[in-house]
Amino acid sequence: MKRYDLRSDTITKPTDAMRKAMADAEVGDDVYREDPTTNRLEHYAAELTGKEKALFVSSGSMGNLISLYINGGRSNEVLTAANSHIIQHEIGSVAAIAGVLPIAIDAPRGVLSATDFAGKVKSGAYDMATTTLIEVENTIGGYCYPLENLEGIRDFASTHDLKVHMDGARVFNAQVATGIPVKTYAKYVDTLTFCLSKGLGAPVGSMLCGDAAFINKALTVRKMLGGGMRQTGILAAAGLYALERQVNRLSEDHEHAKAIAKTLAKTGWADVDMDGVQTNILFFTVPSLGAQEVVRQLASKGVLANTEGQNIRLVTNLDLNDEDTDAVCRILASFEPEGLA
Ligand SMILES: Cc1ncc(COP(=O)(O)O)c(C=O)c1O
Repeated sequence: MKRYDLRSDTITKPTDAMRKAMADAEVGDDVYREDPTTNRLEHYAAELTGKEKALFVSSGSMGNLISLYINGGRSNEVLTAANSHIIQHEIGSVAAIAGVLPIAIDAPRGVLSATDFAGKVKSGAYDMATTTLIEVENTIGGYCYPLENLEGIRDFASTHDLKVHMDGARVFNAQVATGIPVKTYAKYVDTLTFCLSKGLGAPVGSMLCGDAAFINKALTVRKMLGGGMRQTGILAAAGLYALERQVNRLSEDHEHAKAIAKTLAKTGWADVDMDGVQTNILFFTVPSLGAQEVVRQLASKGVLANTEGQNIRLVTNLDLNDEDTDAVCRILASFEPEGLA
């Protein structure tokens, strides 16, 4: 049975052309800052985000952690959405390593606005932490941050002397879906990470972007965390390839997600968050059946999914073409979950 892997967009494998770019990469020791391909990738990432500098890091988690370490700081607080990746999926590193206390804010879909922070900023009373940072995630659960929210958050942060970090793991999906350039999203935040290894299809790596002073500190913190790597040009070449050739094609993933969501909505057994399907991620529930059970049954039909709390999550990706999407839709349309009440 053919299996269609929609657990994440991290499961994609480098194409032959990407592997060739990796094999041909010119390399040097990046800890000495002598890897020409990595340097080129960092310049390009800075240009794309409109930030002074960028740094290649091993993962999105490491990029977020470095920013939280520098701009959050020990015994300070970061305001973020309760469903943010830094709270839910980074094993508490925000507190355990960066030393920052995350203040989890409930907001529809995790999209925050300035009013969510009212009364939450602490400024260092003798027995209280100091709020130093706001963290936003774009896309969050595949949903694109409205610019007006970011504008409001930026104003609020500036008024209260807070920094803003964007976990833009999938910010290029937001760019492609909305037509708003990454540079515009980046304008409202001090620091930004984006992942090369998700929808963009590279095997490894993320970029951390910010001003020169921040990136100089980030270099030290990256080394402290064990993230100083040597001939990274082999990986950076994949990142460059992805940024140069695999951004616009994200629209195909978005179309595939919409097609799958529409099919699910017609089945009668799935409750689909249609308004939330803006990019490559879709969520649904099967009322009266647990998410884990649905994932198990779907896997037996060849469709691999993940759970996210009570939801079932499907993520379209580079390794799922039009034909595969049609096949997934056919499987879902004829699927009858067992055990429905
Ligand atoms: C929104 C978001 N942020 C950060 C990360 C972390 O990326 P990595 O797996 O490269 O550490 C992920 C990974 O799935 C993510 O989805």
